[in-house]
Amino acid sequence: MTRSSLVLDANDALAARIGAHGLSASDLDALSPAAARAWEALSARWGRGELGFWKLPSDEAIQAPAIAVGEELAERFENVVVLGIGGSSLGAKSAVAALGGPFRDLLPRERRQGARVFFPDNSDPDTFASLLDCIDLGSTCFLAITKSGGTAETLSQLMIVRERLGESRLAQQLVAITDPETGALRQLAREQGWRTLPVPPDVGGRYSVLSAVGLTPIAAAGFDAAALCRGAAAMRRRCESPTLRENPALLLAAIHHAFDRRGRRVHVLFPYSDALREFGDWFVQLWAESLGKSEEAGPTPLRAVGATDQHSLLQLLMEGPQDKLVTFLAVEEPVADVAIPPVWSDRPAFELLAGRSLGGLLDAERRGTTAALAQAGRPSLTLRLPRVDAQALGELYFLWEAATAFAGTLYGVDPFDQPGVEASKRLTKALMAGEPMPGALPPEDPAFVLR
Ligand code: PA5
Repeated sequence: MTRSSLVLDANDALAARIGAHGLSASDLDALSPAAARAWEALSARWGRGELGFWKLPSDEAIQAPAIAVGEELAERFENVVVLGIGGSSLGAKSAVAALGGPFRDLLPRERRQGARVFFPDNSDPDTFASLLDCIDLGSTCFLAITKSGGTAETLSQLMIVRERLGESRLAQQLVAITDPETGALRQLAREQGWRTLPVPPDVGGRYSVLSAVGLTPIAAAGFDAAALCRGAAAMRRRCESPTLRENPALLLAAIHHAFDRRGRRVHVLFPYSDALREFGDWFVQLWAESLGKSEEAGPTPLRAVGATDQHSLLQLLMEGPQDKLVTFLAVEEPVADVAIPPVWSDRPAFELLAGRSLGGLLDAERRGTTAALAQAGRPSLTLRLPRVDAQALGELYFLWEAATAFAGTLYGVDPFDQPGVEASKRLTKALMAGEPMPGALPPEDPAFVLR
Protein backbone atom coordinates (compact mmCIF):
# COMPACT_ATOMS: atom_id res chain seq x y z
CA MET A 1 0.00 0.00 0.00
CA THR A 2 1.39 3.42 -1.01
CA ARG A 3 2.25 5.62 1.96
CA SER A 4 1.58 9.33 1.92
CA SER A 5 4.81 11.30 2.04
CA LEU A 6 3.56 14.88 2.02
CA VAL A 7 4.31 16.96 5.12
CA LEU A 8 2.24 19.90 6.36
CA ASP A 9 4.28 22.17 8.64
CA ALA A 10 2.22 24.84 10.39
CA ASN A 11 4.96 26.16 12.70
CA ASP A 12 5.30 29.50 10.99
CA ALA A 13 1.61 30.22 11.57
CA LEU A 14 1.98 29.92 15.36
CA ALA A 15 2.21 32.82 17.82
CA ALA A 16 5.09 31.01 19.51
CA ARG A 17 7.17 31.62 16.35
CA ILE A 18 5.81 34.80 14.80
CA GLY A 19 4.22 36.70 17.67
CA ALA A 20 0.82 38.34 17.97
CA HIS A 21 -0.30 37.70 14.37
CA GLY A 22 0.06 33.94 14.83
CA LEU A 23 -2.30 31.37 16.32
CA SER A 24 -1.83 30.73 20.04
CA ALA A 25 -2.36 27.38 21.75
CA SER A 26 -5.84 28.48 22.82
CA ASP A 27 -6.64 29.65 19.24
CA LEU A 28 -5.71 26.17 18.05
CA ASP A 29 -7.90 24.56 20.70
CA ALA A 30 -10.73 26.85 19.62
CA LEU A 31 -10.52 25.47 16.06
CA SER A 32 -11.42 21.98 17.19
CA PRO A 33 -15.22 22.17 17.69
CA ALA A 34 -15.91 23.75 14.27
CA ALA A 35 -13.43 21.39 12.62
CA ALA A 36 -15.13 18.43 14.31
CA ARG A 37 -18.52 19.60 13.00
CA ALA A 38 -17.08 20.01 9.47
CA TRP A 39 -15.62 16.52 9.67
CA GLU A 40 -18.94 15.05 10.90
CA ALA A 41 -20.83 16.71 8.05
CA LEU A 42 -18.42 15.67 5.33
CA SER A 43 -17.69 12.18 6.61
CA ALA A 44 -21.42 11.46 6.69
CA ARG A 45 -21.53 12.40 3.00
CA TRP A 46 -18.52 10.35 1.92
CA GLY A 47 -19.81 7.49 4.11
CA ARG A 48 -23.07 7.52 2.12
CA GLY A 49 -21.08 7.65 -1.14
CA GLU A 50 -22.43 11.11 -1.98
CA LEU A 51 -19.09 12.81 -2.64
CA GLY A 52 -18.07 11.80 -6.14
CA PHE A 53 -14.50 13.08 -5.93
CA TRP A 54 -13.92 11.18 -2.69
CA LYS A 55 -14.51 7.86 -4.48
CA LEU A 56 -12.25 8.55 -7.47
CA PRO A 57 -8.81 7.54 -6.05
CA SER A 58 -9.95 3.91 -5.80
CA ASP A 59 -12.57 3.77 -8.57
CA GLU A 60 -11.10 1.12 -10.87
CA ALA A 61 -14.10 1.23 -13.20
CA ILE A 62 -13.35 4.89 -13.96
CA GLN A 63 -9.54 4.68 -13.88
CA ALA A 64 -8.84 1.57 -15.97
CA PRO A 65 -10.54 2.61 -19.24
CA ALA A 66 -9.44 6.24 -18.85
CA ILE A 67 -5.77 5.22 -18.50
CA ALA A 68 -6.00 2.51 -21.19
CA VAL A 69 -7.34 5.01 -23.74
CA GLY A 70 -4.64 7.53 -22.77
CA GLU A 71 -1.90 4.92 -23.17
CA GLU A 72 -3.24 3.94 -26.56
CA LEU A 73 -3.25 7.59 -27.70
CA ALA A 74 0.34 7.93 -26.44
CA GLU A 75 1.33 5.18 -28.88
CA ARG A 76 -0.79 6.22 -31.85
CA PHE A 77 -0.51 10.00 -31.96
CA GLU A 78 2.20 12.60 -32.07
CA ASN A 79 -0.10 15.27 -30.58
CA VAL A 80 -3.12 15.35 -28.33
CA VAL A 81 -5.16 18.54 -28.06
CA VAL A 82 -7.50 18.96 -25.11
CA LEU A 83 -10.60 20.93 -26.02
CA GLY A 84 -11.87 21.94 -22.59
CA ILE A 85 -11.86 24.86 -20.20
CA GLY A 86 -11.76 25.48 -16.45
CA GLY A 87 -12.02 22.27 -14.48
CA SER A 88 -12.06 20.31 -17.73
CA SER A 89 -8.54 21.47 -18.53
CA LEU A 90 -6.59 22.82 -15.54
CA GLY A 91 -6.01 19.54 -13.70
CA ALA A 92 -4.38 17.65 -16.57
CA LYS A 93 -2.65 20.82 -17.73
CA SER A 94 -1.01 21.26 -14.34
CA ALA A 95 -0.02 17.58 -14.11
CA VAL A 96 1.53 17.47 -17.58
CA ALA A 97 3.42 20.70 -16.83
CA ALA A 98 4.61 19.33 -13.47
CA LEU A 99 5.73 15.93 -14.75
CA GLY A 100 7.08 17.02 -18.11
CA GLY A 101 8.48 20.47 -17.41
CA PRO A 102 8.24 23.49 -19.70
CA PHE A 103 10.44 22.21 -22.54
CA ARG A 104 9.30 18.59 -22.90
CA ASP A 105 7.70 19.19 -26.28
CA LEU A 106 11.11 20.10 -27.69
CA LEU A 107 12.35 16.56 -27.07
CA PRO A 108 12.33 13.99 -29.88
CA ARG A 109 9.63 11.34 -29.60
CA GLU A 110 11.96 8.59 -28.28
CA ARG A 111 13.04 10.71 -25.31
CA ARG A 112 9.55 11.95 -24.57
CA GLN A 113 7.64 8.64 -24.33
CA GLY A 114 4.10 9.95 -24.80
CA ALA A 115 2.35 12.38 -27.12
CA ARG A 116 2.78 16.14 -26.94
CA VAL A 117 -0.35 17.35 -25.13
CA PHE A 118 -1.70 20.87 -25.70
CA PHE A 119 -4.29 22.73 -23.67
CA PRO A 120 -5.52 25.79 -25.59
CA ASP A 121 -8.15 26.16 -22.83
CA ASN A 122 -9.34 29.63 -23.77
CA SER A 123 -11.46 30.56 -26.78
CA ASP A 124 -8.89 33.16 -27.82
CA PRO A 125 -8.77 32.93 -31.65
CA ASP A 126 -5.06 33.81 -31.83
CA THR A 127 -4.09 30.90 -29.58
CA PHE A 128 -6.32 28.38 -31.29
CA ALA A 129 -5.44 29.39 -34.82
CA SER A 130 -1.71 29.31 -34.11
CA LEU A 131 -1.95 25.90 -32.43
CA LEU A 132 -3.79 24.39 -35.41
CA ASP A 133 -1.20 25.95 -37.73
CA CYS A 134 1.74 24.56 -35.74
CA ILE A 135 0.71 20.91 -35.49
CA ASP A 136 0.20 18.20 -38.06
CA LEU A 137 -3.55 17.59 -37.84
CA GLY A 138 -3.15 14.13 -39.39
CA SER A 139 -1.21 12.87 -36.36
CA THR A 140 -3.30 14.64 -33.74
CA CYS A 141 -6.00 13.27 -31.47
CA PHE A 142 -8.58 15.68 -30.02
CA LEU A 143 -10.07 15.14 -26.57
CA ALA A 144 -13.33 17.07 -26.29
CA ILE A 145 -13.77 17.34 -22.53
CA THR A 146 -16.88 18.92 -21.07
CA LYS A 147 -18.84 17.60 -18.12
CA SER A 148 -22.01 19.49 -19.04
CA GLY A 149 -21.52 18.86 -22.73
CA GLY A 150 -22.66 22.37 -23.57
CA THR A 151 -19.77 24.75 -22.84
CA ALA A 152 -19.52 27.33 -25.63
CA GLU A 153 -15.70 27.60 -25.66
CA THR A 154 -15.27 23.85 -25.99
CA LEU A 155 -18.04 23.25 -28.52
CA SER A 156 -16.85 26.09 -30.76
CA GLN A 157 -13.33 24.63 -30.84
CA LEU A 158 -14.77 21.21 -31.65
CA MET A 159 -16.80 22.70 -34.52
CA ILE A 160 -13.64 24.29 -35.96
CA VAL A 161 -11.79 20.98 -35.74
CA ARG A 162 -14.71 19.17 -37.40
CA GLU A 163 -14.50 21.65 -40.29
CA ARG A 164 -10.74 21.16 -40.68
CA LEU A 165 -10.75 17.36 -40.44
CA GLY A 166 -14.09 16.42 -41.96
CA GLU A 167 -16.58 14.07 -40.38
CA SER A 168 -14.95 10.71 -41.00
CA ARG A 169 -11.42 11.73 -39.96
CA LEU A 170 -12.84 13.42 -36.88
CA ALA A 171 -14.48 10.16 -35.86
CA GLN A 172 -11.05 8.45 -36.02
CA GLN A 173 -9.24 11.22 -34.15
CA LEU A 174 -11.65 12.21 -31.39
CA VAL A 175 -12.52 11.02 -27.91
CA ALA A 176 -15.41 12.77 -26.17
CA ILE A 177 -15.20 12.89 -22.36
CA THR A 178 -18.53 13.98 -20.93
CA ASP A 179 -21.52 13.07 -18.75
CA PRO A 180 -22.51 9.44 -19.41
CA GLU A 181 -26.14 10.28 -20.17
CA THR A 182 -26.95 13.93 -20.65
CA GLY A 183 -25.75 16.98 -22.57
CA ALA A 184 -25.35 18.11 -26.17
CA LEU A 185 -21.96 16.46 -26.63
CA ARG A 186 -23.19 13.10 -25.33
CA GLN A 187 -26.13 13.21 -27.70
CA LEU A 188 -23.94 14.10 -30.69
CA ALA A 189 -21.39 11.42 -29.75
CA ARG A 190 -24.15 8.82 -29.69
CA GLU A 191 -25.45 9.86 -33.09
CA GLN A 192 -21.96 9.97 -34.64
CA GLY A 193 -20.74 6.79 -32.95
CA TRP A 194 -17.74 8.57 -31.43
CA ARG A 195 -15.52 6.99 -28.89
CA THR A 196 -16.37 8.30 -25.40
CA LEU A 197 -15.34 8.15 -21.76
CA PRO A 198 -17.65 9.15 -18.90
CA VAL A 199 -17.31 11.94 -16.34
CA PRO A 200 -19.15 10.66 -13.26
CA PRO A 201 -22.33 12.73 -12.80
CA ASP A 202 -21.49 13.40 -9.13
CA VAL A 203 -18.01 14.83 -9.89
CA GLY A 204 -17.78 18.55 -10.71
CA GLY A 205 -15.22 19.93 -13.17
CA ARG A 206 -12.70 21.29 -10.67
CA TYR A 207 -12.78 18.03 -8.67
CA SER A 208 -12.38 15.80 -11.74
CA VAL A 209 -8.62 15.46 -12.29
CA LEU A 210 -8.71 11.84 -11.05
CA SER A 211 -11.40 10.87 -13.59
CA ALA A 212 -10.93 10.52 -17.38
CA VAL A 213 -10.86 14.34 -17.49
CA GLY A 214 -7.35 14.26 -16.03
CA LEU A 215 -6.19 10.66 -16.31
CA THR A 216 -6.60 10.26 -20.09
CA PRO A 217 -4.51 13.30 -21.11
CA ILE A 218 -1.95 12.54 -18.39
CA ALA A 219 -1.58 8.94 -19.64
CA ALA A 220 -1.51 10.19 -23.26
CA ALA A 221 1.51 12.29 -22.32
CA GLY A 222 3.20 9.08 -21.13
CA PHE A 223 2.96 9.75 -17.39
CA ASP A 224 2.02 7.31 -14.66
CA ALA A 225 -1.65 8.10 -14.10
CA ALA A 226 -2.08 5.01 -11.89
CA ALA A 227 0.60 6.33 -9.50
CA LEU A 228 -1.28 9.62 -9.36
CA CYS A 229 -4.37 7.70 -8.17
CA ARG A 230 -2.32 5.73 -5.62
CA GLY A 231 -0.95 8.99 -4.22
CA ALA A 232 -4.46 10.40 -3.97
CA ALA A 233 -5.69 7.24 -2.23
CA ALA A 234 -2.86 7.47 0.31
CA MET A 235 -3.75 11.08 1.02
CA ARG A 236 -7.44 10.22 1.28
CA ARG A 237 -6.68 7.83 4.14
CA ARG A 238 -5.09 10.72 6.07
CA CYS A 239 -7.97 13.06 5.21
CA GLU A 240 -10.48 10.63 6.70
CA SER A 241 -9.04 10.99 10.20
CA PRO A 242 -11.42 12.77 12.61
CA THR A 243 -8.42 14.13 14.57
CA LEU A 244 -7.55 17.69 13.58
CA ARG A 245 -3.83 17.26 14.28
CA GLU A 246 -3.71 14.13 12.09
CA ASN A 247 -5.83 15.27 9.17
CA PRO A 248 -3.86 17.61 6.87
CA ALA A 249 -6.89 18.69 4.81
CA LEU A 250 -8.95 19.51 7.88
CA LEU A 251 -6.05 21.41 9.48
CA LEU A 252 -5.34 23.29 6.25
CA ALA A 253 -9.00 24.28 5.98
CA ALA A 254 -9.35 25.20 9.67
CA ILE A 255 -6.20 27.35 9.69
CA HIS A 256 -7.18 29.17 6.49
CA HIS A 257 -10.66 29.76 7.84
CA ALA A 258 -9.36 30.99 11.20
CA PHE A 259 -6.95 33.47 9.58
CA ASP A 260 -9.67 34.55 7.15
CA ARG A 261 -11.84 35.46 10.11
CA ARG A 262 -8.96 37.63 11.39
CA GLY A 263 -8.89 39.55 8.11
CA ARG A 264 -6.41 37.40 6.18
CA ARG A 265 -8.64 36.87 3.19
CA VAL A 266 -5.95 36.57 0.52
CA HIS A 267 -4.62 33.01 0.35
CA VAL A 268 -1.35 32.71 -1.51
CA LEU A 269 -0.01 29.42 -2.87
CA PHE A 270 3.74 29.86 -3.30
CA PRO A 271 5.50 26.85 -4.86
CA TYR A 272 9.27 27.09 -5.03
CA SER A 273 9.20 25.06 -8.21
CA ASP A 274 8.50 25.94 -11.83
CA ALA A 275 6.99 22.48 -12.19
CA LEU A 276 4.19 23.49 -9.81
CA ARG A 277 3.43 26.86 -11.41
CA GLU A 278 0.32 25.52 -13.18
CA PHE A 279 -0.66 23.63 -10.06
CA GLY A 280 -1.09 27.10 -8.57
CA ASP A 281 -3.54 27.96 -11.36
CA TRP A 282 -5.51 24.79 -10.62
CA PHE A 283 -5.59 25.75 -6.91
CA VAL A 284 -6.79 29.27 -7.71
CA GLN A 285 -9.76 27.94 -9.68
CA LEU A 286 -10.62 25.33 -7.06
CA TRP A 287 -10.48 27.75 -4.12
CA ALA A 288 -12.20 30.68 -5.86
CA GLU A 289 -15.01 28.84 -7.61
CA SER A 290 -15.73 26.63 -4.62
CA LEU A 291 -15.60 29.16 -1.79
CA GLY A 292 -16.48 32.54 -3.32
CA LYS A 293 -20.16 32.33 -2.56
CA SER A 294 -21.23 35.29 -0.40
CA GLU A 295 -20.02 38.68 0.79
CA GLU A 296 -18.85 37.03 4.00
CA ALA A 297 -17.32 33.92 2.42
CA GLY A 298 -14.82 34.30 -0.34
CA PRO A 299 -11.09 34.15 0.23
CA THR A 300 -9.10 35.48 -2.73
CA PRO A 301 -6.59 32.89 -3.95
CA LEU A 302 -3.33 34.09 -5.44
CA ARG A 303 -0.53 32.15 -7.07
CA ALA A 304 3.13 33.07 -6.72
CA VAL A 305 6.26 31.17 -7.83
CA GLY A 306 9.59 31.15 -6.06
CA ALA A 307 12.11 32.50 -6.59
CA THR A 308 10.60 34.62 -9.39
CA ASP A 309 8.10 36.35 -7.11
CA GLN A 310 10.82 37.33 -4.65
CA HIS A 311 11.42 40.00 -7.27
CA SER A 312 7.73 40.89 -7.53
CA LEU A 313 4.96 39.96 -5.05
CA LEU A 314 7.25 39.44 -2.07
CA GLN A 315 7.52 43.15 -1.26
CA LEU A 316 3.72 43.22 -0.91
CA LEU A 317 3.70 40.06 1.21
CA MET A 318 6.42 41.43 3.51
CA GLU A 319 5.24 44.98 4.07
CA GLY A 320 1.81 45.36 2.50
CA PRO A 321 -1.54 44.95 4.27
CA GLN A 322 -1.75 42.21 6.91
CA ASP A 323 -4.44 40.40 4.93
CA LYS A 324 -2.57 37.38 3.55
CA LEU A 325 -1.78 33.81 4.48
CA VAL A 326 0.96 32.16 2.44
CA THR A 327 1.32 28.43 1.82
CA PHE A 328 4.74 27.48 0.50
CA LEU A 329 5.23 24.31 -1.53
CA ALA A 330 8.73 22.97 -0.94
CA VAL A 331 10.25 20.23 -3.08
CA GLU A 332 12.98 18.39 -1.22
CA GLU A 333 14.70 16.79 -4.20
CA PRO A 334 14.72 18.33 -7.70
CA VAL A 335 14.36 15.89 -10.60
CA ALA A 336 17.75 17.06 -11.89
CA ASP A 337 19.92 19.45 -9.94
CA VAL A 338 22.49 21.58 -11.76
CA ALA A 339 25.89 22.24 -10.24
CA ILE A 340 27.20 25.81 -10.24
CA PRO A 341 30.84 25.53 -11.29
CA PRO A 342 33.56 27.17 -9.19
CA VAL A 343 34.45 29.93 -11.66
CA TRP A 344 35.39 33.51 -10.69
CA SER A 345 35.31 32.33 -7.10
CA ASP A 346 37.92 34.92 -6.09
CA ARG A 347 35.18 37.60 -6.40
CA PRO A 348 32.78 37.95 -3.44
CA ALA A 349 29.51 38.00 -5.48
CA PHE A 350 30.46 34.70 -7.17
CA GLU A 351 32.22 33.06 -4.25
CA LEU A 352 29.08 32.09 -2.30
CA LEU A 353 27.57 30.47 -5.41
CA ALA A 354 30.66 28.62 -6.61
CA GLY A 355 30.52 24.88 -6.05
CA ARG A 356 26.86 24.97 -4.93
CA SER A 357 23.81 24.05 -7.10
CA LEU A 358 20.73 25.75 -8.53
CA GLY A 359 18.57 23.44 -6.37
CA GLY A 360 20.53 24.47 -3.28
CA LEU A 361 20.10 28.13 -4.18
CA LEU A 362 16.34 27.76 -4.71
CA ASP A 363 15.98 25.94 -1.40
CA ALA A 364 17.97 28.61 0.44
CA GLU A 365 15.77 31.24 -1.15
CA ARG A 366 12.62 29.47 0.04
CA ARG A 367 13.94 29.03 3.56
CA GLY A 368 15.14 32.62 3.63
CA THR A 369 11.77 33.95 2.45
CA THR A 370 9.84 31.81 4.96
CA ALA A 371 12.06 33.04 7.79
CA ALA A 372 11.86 36.67 6.64
CA LEU A 373 8.05 36.51 6.68
CA ALA A 374 8.08 34.88 10.12
CA GLN A 375 10.47 37.50 11.48
CA ALA A 376 8.13 40.19 10.11
CA GLY A 377 5.28 38.54 12.07
CA ARG A 378 3.53 37.27 8.94
CA PRO A 379 2.10 33.74 9.02
CA SER A 380 2.80 30.98 6.55
CA LEU A 381 2.39 27.24 6.16
CA THR A 382 4.71 24.87 4.31
CA LEU A 383 3.74 21.76 2.39
CA ARG A 384 6.80 19.60 1.73
CA LEU A 385 6.97 17.07 -1.11
CA PRO A 386 9.91 14.68 -1.41
CA ARG A 387 9.95 15.28 -5.17
CA VAL A 388 7.57 16.24 -7.99
CA ASP A 389 6.38 12.87 -9.22
CA ALA A 390 2.99 11.37 -10.04
CA GLN A 391 2.40 10.06 -6.53
CA ALA A 392 3.17 13.37 -4.82
CA LEU A 393 0.97 15.21 -7.30
CA GLY A 394 -1.91 12.82 -6.62
CA GLU A 395 -1.49 13.56 -2.91
CA LEU A 396 -1.51 17.29 -3.55
CA TYR A 397 -4.64 17.22 -5.72
CA PHE A 398 -6.60 15.20 -3.20
CA LEU A 399 -5.33 17.21 -0.24
CA TRP A 400 -6.54 20.50 -1.70
CA GLU A 401 -9.83 19.04 -2.95
CA ALA A 402 -10.55 17.68 0.54
CA ALA A 403 -9.39 20.92 2.18
CA THR A 404 -11.73 22.87 -0.11
CA ALA A 405 -14.63 20.62 0.81
CA PHE A 406 -13.87 21.04 4.54
CA ALA A 407 -13.42 24.80 4.08
CA GLY A 408 -16.78 25.07 2.32
CA THR A 409 -18.40 23.48 5.36
CA LEU A 410 -16.55 25.88 7.71
CA TYR A 411 -17.57 28.91 5.63
CA GLY A 412 -21.14 27.58 5.41
CA VAL A 413 -21.21 27.49 1.61
CA ASP A 414 -21.71 24.74 -0.96
CA PRO A 415 -18.20 24.13 -2.37
CA PHE A 416 -19.55 22.06 -5.26
CA ASP A 417 -21.72 24.53 -7.16
CA GLN A 418 -20.94 27.74 -9.11
CA PRO A 419 -24.16 29.72 -9.55
CA GLY A 420 -22.22 32.97 -9.99
CA VAL A 421 -20.74 31.96 -13.34
CA GLU A 422 -24.17 31.29 -14.83
CA ALA A 423 -25.15 34.98 -15.21
CA SER A 424 -22.25 35.77 -17.54
CA LYS A 425 -22.93 32.60 -19.56
CA ARG A 426 -26.59 33.66 -20.00
CA LEU A 427 -25.65 37.14 -21.20
CA THR A 428 -22.97 35.78 -23.56
CA LYS A 429 -25.50 33.40 -25.13
CA ALA A 430 -27.96 36.24 -25.67
CA LEU A 431 -25.26 38.37 -27.35
CA MET A 432 -24.17 35.46 -29.55
CA ALA A 433 -27.83 35.02 -30.59
CA GLY A 434 -27.87 38.68 -31.66
CA GLU A 435 -30.34 39.63 -28.93
CA PRO A 436 -30.08 42.88 -26.97
CA MET A 437 -28.20 42.58 -23.68
CA PRO A 438 -30.74 41.26 -21.15
CA GLY A 439 -31.13 43.06 -17.80
CA ALA A 440 -31.35 46.78 -17.13
CA LEU A 441 -28.29 49.04 -16.83
CA PRO A 442 -28.31 52.86 -17.05
CA PRO A 443 -26.87 54.15 -20.37
CA GLU A 444 -23.08 54.58 -20.59
CA ASP A 445 -21.61 58.09 -20.11
CA PRO A 446 -19.43 58.92 -23.19
CA ALA A 447 -17.37 61.31 -21.03
CA PHE A 448 -15.86 58.27 -19.34
CA VAL A 449 -14.74 56.64 -22.59
CA LEU A 450 -11.35 58.22 -23.31
CA ARG A 451 -10.23 58.10 -26.93
O1 PA5 B 1 -15.26 23.47 -11.99
C1 PA5 B 1 -16.19 23.65 -12.73
O2 PA5 B 1 -17.29 23.09 -12.57
C2 PA5 B 1 -16.06 24.57 -13.93
O3 PA5 B 1 -14.84 25.26 -13.89
C3 PA5 B 1 -16.14 23.76 -15.21
O4 PA5 B 1 -15.13 22.79 -15.22
C4 PA5 B 1 -16.02 24.65 -16.45
O5 PA5 B 1 -17.00 25.66 -16.42
C5 PA5 B 1 -16.21 23.81 -17.71
O6 PA5 B 1 -17.43 23.14 -17.64
P1 PA5 B 1 -17.70 21.86 -18.52
O7 PA5 B 1 -16.81 20.78 -18.06
O8 PA5 B 1 -19.14 21.54 -18.29
O9 PA5 B 1 -17.43 22.24 -19.94
